[in-house]
Amino acid sequence: MAALPCFLFCLLLFASPSLQSQTPPDVRKHLKKLNKPAVKSIKSPDGDVIDCVPIEKQLAFDHPLLVNHKIQTKPNYHPEGLFEDMKVTSSAAESVDQKTGSIKQLWHRNGRCAQGTIPVRRTTRADVTRAKKVEHFGMKKQKYQAAAPRFQPQSADPGFIQTGHEHAIAYVEDGRFYGAKATMNVWKPHIQDSNEFSLSQIWVLGGTFDLDLNSIEAGWQVSPDMYGDNNTRLFTYWTGDTYQATGCYNLLCSGFVQLNSDIALGASIYPISNYGNSQYDISILIWKV
Ligand SMILES: *[C@@H]1O[C@H](CO)[C@@H](O)[C@H](O)[C@H]1NC(C)=O
Repeated sequence: MAALPCFLFCLLLFASPSLQSQTPPDVRKHLKKLNKPAVKSIKSPDGDVIDCVPIEKQLAFDHPLLVNHKIQTKPNYHPEGLFEDMKVTSSAAESVDQKTGSIKQLWHRNGRCAQGTIPVRRTTRADVTRAKKVEHFGMKKQKYQAAAPRFQPQSADPGFIQTGHEHAIAYVEDGRFYGAKATMNVWKPHIQDSNEFSLSQIWVLGGTFDLDLNSIEAGWQVSPDMYGDNNTRLFTYWTGDTYQATGCYNLLCSGFVQLNSDIALGASIYPISNYGNSQYDISILIWKV
């Protein structure tokens, strides 16, 4: 009988401090907020876990403004015809979805999410820990915020360098636009340093840089800092205030509402283009309803 209290005591003594030190409370809390209960989880070959989360349970609806939000399952305006050229030209036909012609993601090899659920890349403790501050996880770093393309004439030259950030852009400005579409080849650029990244994206901007820049971005990125590997991943980003207090990648904060059950934001794109071999591209269309 005397052994029992000691047994309990020892267990507590050993178990609780080690759990505490493994995952700091703020990280644990953040992970709990991001990773919603899934009806099914799929292990991707790249190490990701993809959680199939009921549409109405996604993080977006945690926002006070979206409580009791009525989910719109179809846009009230759909730019007809703009999806018809989304065919993939490839000799590696087996890696491309035969029915839709659309490119797969790596996790599709191990399963799919059912209709009514959305695939969400599960955020790991390591992901959050790589961020300097837990509350900044999923947001662009301060030092890159200044690297958004200010539309000065000289910045239209491809390959110019601004705050260590090289990019080439093509753009239109000053007009009334209701949408934009971009098709981009999907590559896996070499990343020299873990805090560097490489990407290709479509970027829709409104407002002014010094005040209230609104941005919607989508494309692919290789970002070891963000994902812990060098894979080419699909991403989205948004901000409503010049990258200051609002916005994030993918579904890492309330913002984008996802309906699609096939594509996981932040998950690896597969297949990707190779030099002297098959070429793969993604098309992204952003429009106002
Ligand atoms: C990513 O690539 C770099 C350089 O090629 C390499 O040093 C690094 O170990 C890779 N990172 C991971 C997580 O595989």
